[in-house]
Amino acid sequence: MHLRRGFPAVLLLCLPRAAAWTCDLTASSISYDLSPLSGLRRTGRDSSTPPSTSQARVELDLCGEGIGVEEGVPEEDQCEPGTKVCLRMINHKPPHAERVISVIPFWTTSTPDDNVWTTPMGRKGQEGLKVWVEGPEYAGTKQNLNLTLLCSTSATEPDPTFVSYVPGRLSLEWATPDACPRSGGIIGGGGGGGGGFGFFGFIKFLFWVGLVGLVLYFAIGILYNHQQYSARGWDLVPHRDFWREFPVLVQDLFGHVFTNVRGGGGGSRGGYSSLG
Ligand SMILES: *[C@@H]1O[C@H](CO)[C@@H](O)[C@H](O)[C@H]1NC(C)=O
Repeated sequence: MHLRRGFPAVLLLCLPRAAAWTCDLTASSISYDLSPLSGLRRTGRDSSTPPSTSQARVELDLCGEGIGVEEGVPEEDQCEPGTKVCLRMINHKPPHAERVISVIPFWTTSTPDDNVWTTPMGRKGQEGLKVWVEGPEYAGTKQNLNLTLLCSTSATEPDPTFVSYVPGRLSLEWATPDACPRSGGIIGGGGGGGGGFGFFGFIKFLFWVGLVGLVLYFAIGILYNHQQYSARGWDLVPHRDFWREFPVLVQDLFGHVFTNVRGGGGGSRGGYSSLG
């Protein structure tokens, strides 16, 4: 009963969880500090759409209270002040003035935190962080933001890269050292190969401790017997009588287990046949 109730809850814990969005965040127990990415950033892409030129312009401020208002631009030609990520499609056709043809908010300060997913990339999050936002509807389509923050210690890009916009999904990518896990997460990442001290890591640890212990035991035992009793040959082995009987003991033990398993299996088979 309890197990069956607990199972879905355990599964839910494994999913990327939506916590209140702050730039100082923990995703799947890996913490990141994105606050250096705050402030107004811009990216975009031009494309030739004869007889005009089209431009996708993105303004974003991940950590602040939105991108604010641009002076001298009509209100309808920009996102509302509380917008964190805004895409505007602009068309140029000289000699006409540029024309803003769509203004699409993806993430606003009123976007519920449940609509924001953060997922670390890589085993210890050392490859960065994925941010997925289910934003408001625009032109009858839900608008999603697909922001990939790539951990790169050498990157110096002050702005993200525009990857694509297909109706309903804006993809941005940003290589930055601020997308690397905090120092707490680097312990595993910097280990190189031997990282991931999970259950199997623990078993491996026990195995090596056991092996080293055994080697030390024999080495010290032999040395002791040699120094103390000037022992030679088999007499050097510490607790010689125990080790001589050891193979027989192991055989006995396995013999018992084997008989019990066979006996138990026979018993339950008997139980089933009486039911049928
Ligand atoms: C998100 O963007 C990345 C590129 O930055 C792309 O590889 C990935 O497929 C996109 N994900 C979705 C669901 O579109």
